Amino acid sequence: MGRNVFPTNEALDNLKVFEEVLPDNMGNSTKILEQLYNYGSPATISQIGGRYFGLVNGGIIPTALAAKWLNDFWDQNTPLYVTSPITSKIETIVEGWLKELFHLPVSTAAGFVSGTSSAILCGLAAARFRIYQRLNWDINAKGLINAPRIRIVAGKHAHGTVLKAVALLGFGKDNIEWVDVDSQGRIIPDQIPDLDEKTILILQAGNVNSGSFDYFNEICEKANKANAWVHIDGAFGLWVAGSDKLKHLTSGIEKANSWSVDGHKTLNTPYDCGIVLCKDRDALVSALQATGAYIVYGENRDGMLYTAEISRRARAIELWATLKYLGKQGINELVNGLHDRAYQFAEELTKNGFKVLNEVAFNQVLVACENDEETENTLKNIQELRDCWCGGSTWFDQKVIRISVCSWATTADDITTSVKSFVKARNMIQK
Ligand SMILES: Cc1ncc(COP(=O)(O)O)c(C=O)c1O
Repeated sequence: MGRNVFPTNEALDNLKVFEEVLPDNMGNSTKILEQLYNYGSPATISQIGGRYFGLVNGGIIPTALAAKWLNDFWDQNTPLYVTSPITSKIETIVEGWLKELFHLPVSTAAGFVSGTSSAILCGLAAARFRIYQRLNWDINAKGLINAPRIRIVAGKHAHGTVLKAVALLGFGKDNIEWVDVDSQGRIIPDQIPDLDEKTILILQAGNVNSGSFDYFNEICEKANKANAWVHIDGAFGLWVAGSDKLKHLTSGIEKANSWSVDGHKTLNTPYDCGIVLCKDRDALVSALQATGAYIVYGENRDGMLYTAEISRRARAIELWATLKYLGKQGINELVNGLHDRAYQFAEELTKNGFKVLNEVAFNQVLVACENDEETENTLKNIQELRDCWCGGSTWFDQKVIRISVCSWATTADDITTSVKSFVKARNMIQK
């Protein structure tokens, strides 16, 4: 993969060719595809290569990509068994495999959604349904007006999608009871306020900046005693449960009530592939209920019961192909490989005079130069050099270059090449 990781300025300028009015007449298929190929492809990000470290963007396992092509050709709509028997079967199998891999209770249900943003929303909706039901309040019928108050407790480093779900579900972001975090962004267990049966506590497996994991065992035990609902946002981190070296980080996750995780990050499935897991199947189904005279549920799995949508693509097909291809051994190697490469990145950067600000728990590395200005200028130059791509962030008020190693395709050489680019980028300022 010799191409730029980020498109050239020329490729970006050429996107002007898409600025056309909606055609009056039917087009020519070949010309349409040629336009996409000639002008679209050069303006893509090379995230399927080994040197894209932005956001938490997973690469793509070739078998999964091929499964997606077949799946795209099938073009299944997946609400019900009768609209896609193959999807119903695959979703049932994958649900079982995920429970086994994450060691979750047998009652756990899985919903196959577009990503973790949606999975968190579904998990918290299930929590809201169950808590209100215990309080004799039918949230689906009565809504939030005059409803008793549910408490939301979250760490100060909760991901933005948690806040979005809290807002969408009507809890109000201003009502969140924030818990202090330690130097790695983990909730400090003894800072958690007293919990009760009206509380939803949100934990995280994988801080989006540092990659750190909350202390699930200790915290979930406290929450279970109080009968609070625990949701774990494990967008990319939950997969370390499949690693012999790192699984201690997810110890205790089975004591939570719901979980959100992506296939399209650590597992390297194609986009869009998120999963909501919920120990309380009935709460998930009741929260996401939809009816219609034409919607006839059957004895086999009807996937729409576990998601907010009715029409939906058969995203579990690629997830199944990825899990079947990797197996437990492959997941172990994939997760450990991401960790090894992140560790190598941190070591080589440190040797070259950069500061690594986090403990490399998994796949995230936070890097700083001598001061904020130098960090920001170095990052700008890294992005302009296009040998690799990283984004910026802020870590406890300090500007950082944020690295997420998230592709199976990243090799040790890719890391060394990227570190050289970091050094070159910093030298460009000093000249
Ligand atoms: C911890 C965490 N939660 C939630 C999300 C949102 O996931 P998605 O982009 O799949 O909706 C991310 C994305 O990086 C994340 O890292």
